[in-house]
This record gives sequence, structure tokens and C-alpha cells, in this order.
Amino acid sequence: MNPYYPNLLSPLKVGTVTLKNRICLAPMNLREVDHNGGFTARTIAFNERLAKGGVALITLGEACVSQTTGSSESFMLRITNPGAFFSLCDIAEAVHRWGGKISMEMSHAGALCIPQNNFGNQPMSASAYIKPTGVAVREMTVEDMEQVAEDFGNAALTLKNAGFDMVQFHAGHGWLIHQFLSPRTNKRTDEFGGSLENRCRFPIMCLQNIREKVGKNFPVDMRMTGDEIIEGGYHIEEGKEIARLLSPYVDMIQVSTGGIYHPDATARMSPGVFMEKGCNVDFAAAFKSVVDIPVSTVAGINEPNMMEQTIKDGKADLILMGRGLICEPDMPNKLAGGRMEDCNRCLRCNECHGRLFAKNWFLCTLNPEVGFEDRLSIPAAPEKKKKVLVVGGGPGGLMAAWTAAKRGHQVTLCEKGSELGGAIRFADHVYFKRDMAYWRHQMEKRVAESGVDIRLNTEVTADYIREMKPDAVICAVGADPAQPPIPGLDNSKVIVGATMHDSDQNYGDKIVIIGGGLVGCESAAELHAEGKDVTVVEMLPGIAPGCGVAQSNALRIGMTGVKVLTKTACKRVTDEGVWVQTEGEEEKLLPADSVILSAGLRPRSALVEELQTASVPEFYTIGDCAAARKMGDAIREGYYTAVNL
Ligand SMILES: Cc1cc2nc3c(=O)[nH]c(=O)nc-3n(C[C@H](O)[C@H](O)[C@H](O)COP(=O)(O)OP(=O)(O)OC[C@H]3O[C@@H](n4cnc5c(N)ncnc54)[C@H](O)[C@@H]3O)c2cc1C
Ligand SMILES: Cc1cc2nc3c(=O)[nH]c(=O)nc-3n(C[C@H](O)[C@H](O)[C@H](O)COP(=O)(O)O)c2cc1C
Ligand code: SF4
Repeated sequence: MNPYYPNLLSPLKVGTVTLKNRICLAPMNLREVDHNGGFTARTIAFNERLAKGGVALITLGEACVSQTTGSSESFMLRITNPGAFFSLCDIAEAVHRWGGKISMEMSHAGALCIPQNNFGNQPMSASAYIKPTGVAVREMTVEDMEQVAEDFGNAALTLKNAGFDMVQFHAGHGWLIHQFLSPRTNKRTDEFGGSLENRCRFPIMCLQNIREKVGKNFPVDMRMTGDEIIEGGYHIEEGKEIARLLSPYVDMIQVSTGGIYHPDATARMSPGVFMEKGCNVDFAAAFKSVVDIPVSTVAGINEPNMMEQTIKDGKADLILMGRGLICEPDMPNKLAGGRMEDCNRCLRCNECHGRLFAKNWFLCTLNPEVGFEDRLSIPAAPEKKKKVLVVGGGPGGLMAAWTAAKRGHQVTLCEKGSELGGAIRFADHVYFKRDMAYWRHQMEKRVAESGVDIRLNTEVTADYIREMKPDAVICAVGADPAQPPIPGLDNSKVIVGATMHDSDQNYGDKIVIIGGGLVGCESAAELHAEGKDVTVVEMLPGIAPGCGVAQSNALRIGMTGVKVLTKTACKRVTDEGVWVQTEGEEEKLLPADSVILSAGLRPRSALVEELQTASVPEFYTIGDCAAARKMGDAIREGYYTAVNL
């Protein structure tokens, strides 16, 4: 028994397979297939890295069971594609090498298929309807259902033959099986619609086919939406009943919640910072009360003590983590060794999700190695130990200093201010940024313990560098708040957003925020939660541009109650408030006790140029002072630079 996490790290039997602990990877489709239609080396390396970190079960994300229908995107693996088989064997072997078990989420998108990704075939579902895009969905015939059930069975057998330990049947998140289970989308009047028993008939056909093909000793897992969250969908009581009806055909149930059919439901799937951690645990507990097979829980769980308690209290048998393991792949092994303080805690910032959908591969704010597992890790000690000066103690400087010191360089970190953390110091004061603050304090400790010479209250100049004579300077001096040309910004009502937490000043009740970027929107959410009357003014047609769907859905929840004026220009600030003009309307006054300026950041380029005049052999500019962006960019650049020194 593990002395630190006796419940979380205890084994569990799922059908005939024993999992070595209760920490499993939630399915994540990484949207990468090679030219044969199999997994890329990068996907295999990503999953092998997680197995190495000690995770008990890896369930690979959505892959399509059918050859000519069923795919919602062009980068989705088709399980029975002969060209994919070798990569399936390879990934199974890579996970087994580290004692992990492997499964795959088998899916069919039904109505959500896109014809061009399915050889022009029309999407089909439980019932016919016209999608908002104008594409017509046709009602499935019994022959269609028999074909899809056969496809599920064949896909499961393929995975078994490739060396997988189990398979997962995807019955949630709004895809085909869910379309049959939900009264929102299943309007049939035959034996496949209407009553719950009827709505479960096609899912059972698929499960029976899977069982016939893989035999009784091969575990079958099922992912389900526990509660559809929105009106017209099923809720937890009906969810429990579905679980009870389907459980005789499966060996385990994963209870997720919501899905991609509505922003409020999607927000519950990969919850952001405005939702409670473990917001779906009670749904798993409800399922456990009606089935006698293992039940897992998922969503926004990143604290080891919470995981241990959930298992101990019998609310779930397994904890699934998606993002928590992306940002800390070594979590299971670290917990086993009592190194919980050393685990990165996922920020629930959803940058990974946003990147995946914008660029087809994901990165993580906190873990700079994600996506480069096969190519990038801290190399052995350098041939020449260098004297390295890191200028600036924000996220970029902290990561650079820590990584360079771990490699054996002699590192000095100078910070002008009295504390480390740079622009993210604000996180200490914001209830939904606790994990960001946690990372900052973790990094302060890591840097100090790695032997870096930390010099606070030390403003670096070109002369300072000349005197010190380092071999390399890593310049991470950050950015200054931008000052748009709006008359009246010198009014005492105006507070620069980046300094909002630097004093205990009372900002009054009525607040206008100039700038609807992510930072302005999060400030609005924070002030609104404190009971203020908040209006955000944004020139562009939408707020938080550049945010992915998951981030926008999270913000939607956080900003409920905040007034937002888009396509609106700020004309001037006066003692009464802010004069604005919305496109096509007259100028109007927004009365305000305080005006928060959140108009973006500008890199400290002049300072960088000044420091460069010191002419050191190596000079690197990283993070916001290269281009003002996000914390993850600064962290990655700090890491890459230090790895290459
Ligand atoms: C209010 C606010 C909220 C934000 N929220 C988010 C968020 O939710 N998610 C996200 O990803 N990003 C967020 N960002 C952006 C993020 O904080 C930055 O991208 C990130 O901090 C950049 O890191 P950095 O190390 O490059 O610079 P900084 O964090 O700006 O650090 C630069 C450091 O250099 C020091 N310095 C400057 N000149 C000198 C000198 N001459 N000598 C020594 N030290 C010097 C400064 O004092 C500072 O500590 C936010 C930014 C702000 C302002
Ligand atoms: C990058 C990414 C990809 C995902 N892909 C899938 C998927 O293919 N299938 C699925 O059922 N859920 C998918 N999800 C949802 C996760 O499985 C998980 O339920 C969700 O992220 C909540 O867990 P977490 O808070 O531990 O990340 C994905 C989530 C992320 C972040
Ligand atoms: S990008 Fe953000 S949400 Fe995604 S894993 Fe990393 S820290 Fe977590």
C-alpha cells in the first residue's frame, strides 16, 4: 500500500485486466494521422511519455469505427483502415513498455459528420433534420444501424488484435450513440425511439456486436454523458437509468458530462477556471449507486488530495485526467514517491484545446515539452559550463533560470522588483487564478533550490552586464501596458489593468473596462464576482479574440452578468465616466466610479536594445519583451533557450 495515496494508488480490476493505480488518461483526439492513416510518431511519443509517468490506463481519443461515414474531421484515425494497423500495434507496445494499459475511444459522429470528410456521404442520425449550415441529416434505417453496429464490432476486434487491453464505446458528448440516447435528438416513433428502453436499443446492438467479436474476457468500457445540462436533454436521473440498462454489456463506465451540442454543455466537458474543480464527481457517485461495475469521474481534477478523497469516499473508482496529465505527465510516479509538491497543477486555461483546434497540435502553458516528446528533453550537462545572466523574474525568466541551472550552468537571475513572478503576480489576488499563483510560488522554490543566485531589487543595465561579463544573457524584461490615444486617460479614475492589484484602493461600484481582450474580460469577471456593476467596451465585433472555443465557453460562464459593448469606440474619459460610440449610434456616457484600462501590452523593446549594447557573446530575447503574448509563450521560450545553451 502506498503511504501517501493508499486509495488512489491501489490497483483495480476491470473485467479481466488489472490497472496498477486509479489514475487514467482521459481520451484526447490529438488530430494527427500520418499519410497511411495511422498515428504519427509524435502521437505515439506523447502517449509513451504519459505511460512512463506511471498512468495506469491510457484511453486514446476519438477514432472513427466506419470507413466511409462517421468522421467529424479530416484528421481522425479510422480504426479498421489497414494502413493504420502497424501504428496501433506500435502505440500499444509503447504504452506496455512502461507497465501501462491501453484502450481507444471508438466513435461515430452521426449527424455531426462532415460530408467532405466522409466521401461526400450525407450525415445520418437517429432522426432527420436540417443543420444550421443547411446540410440535411437523414434518418438511419435499420440496415444503417446494423452496418454501424458491425463497424463497432470490427473496430474493437482490430484493436484487440493490435494488442490493446480494452476498448471504449463512446456513447456521450453529442456523437451518434448519444444522438440515439437523447430525447433532444431522437424523435423516432419506431422501436428505436420514444421510451428509454427504445432509445437504448441501437446502443445495445452495437455493444452486443462488440462483445460477439472480442469475446467475454476482453474488457469493454463506455464513456457517457451523465447529464446533458441543457433544457430538453436528459438529466442525471435518466442518465442513471441509461447506465443501468447498458451496464450489463460493459465492464466499466466513464462519466463525463455535457458535450459539443451547446456552449453551456461544452463548458462542462473541459471546464475552465470559473467552475469548481471536480464539478462532475457527484454524477459519477450517482452512477455508482445503480451499477456494480467500476465507474470513473473526469473534469477539472488536478489536486491529488481531492483525487484520493474521491476514491476513499467511494464516489468514483478511477480518476481520469486529460489536461492534468498533459501539464504533469509524471504525476502518478511523483505521487507514489511523495513528491506531490513537485507536481504542476493544470491551470484549466484551455490553451491546449484552443491550439489543437487552431493549429492541429497542442501545446501546454506549463509543460514546454508537450508535442516534442520525441525530440526535446533536457540534454546532458553542456561541454562548457557557462556564466548565464537572466534578466527579469517573470515566467520566462523563471523557466530559463531553472532549466539552465538544472543543466549545470552558473546562473544569476536579476529582478528589478522585490518579488519574482513578473506580470503574473496578480494571480495571488484572484480567486480563479489560484493555480497560476501556485505555479509561481512553486517556481520560486524550484529556482532557489536549483542553486540560482537570485538578486531581487536589482535593475539590470548595460553597464551591469559589462561589469558582470556573462557568457550569455537571457533577456526576459516583459512588456508595458499600452496607452491608446484616448483623451482623458490621465484622469484619476483611470487605473491601468496590470496594476489593479498593486494597492487596496476601493474602485467604487460602477466600473468600465476599456478593452475586451482575455485580460480585460477576466478582470471584468473578477470585479463582477465582487458585486460590481461592470461594463466592457471593445472596438472589435467580439471579445477575447484568439481564444479557442473552450476558453470562450469558460469566459461565457465567468462573465454572466457583465455588460459587453462591442463595435464600440471609447471617445474620452471625463470625471463622469467614459464617453463611447457604438457603430451606427450616437455618443453616450457610461457613468463610472473607476475606469480600468486593459488595452494590451507593448514589449520593452527600447530596454532590450539598450541591454544589447553590452555586447555579450550570446544574447537571447524571450517572452513578452520579444512580443507581448501569453505566459506559455514566455515559458516555452525560456525553456528552449536554456536547453540550447
Ligand atoms: C493583468 C495580466 C493578466 C494576465 N493574464 C494572463 C493569463 O491569464 N494567461 C496568460 O497566459 N497570460 C496572461 N498574461 C500575460 C502574461 O502574464 C505574460 O505573457 C507573461 O508574464 C510574460 O512573461 P515574461 O517573463 O516575458 O515577462 P513578465 O512577466 O512581464 O516579467 C518581466 C520581469 O522583468 C522585470 N524587469 C524589467 N526590467 C528589468 C530590468 N532592467 N532588470 C531586472 N528586471 C527587470 C520586471 O520587473 C518583471 O518582473 C497576463 C498579463 C497581465 C498584465
Ligand atoms: C485537447 C483535448 C482533446 C480532447 N479530445 C477528446 C476526445 O477525443 N474524446 C473525448 O471524449 N473527450 C475529449 N476531450 C475531453 C477530455 O477527455 C476530458 O473529458 C476533459 O478534458 C475534462 O477532463 P480534464 O479536466 O482532466 O482535462 C478532450 C479534451 C482536451 C483538452
Ligand atoms: S494548456 Fe492550460 S489547460 Fe491545457 S494542460 Fe496546460 S495548463 Fe492545463
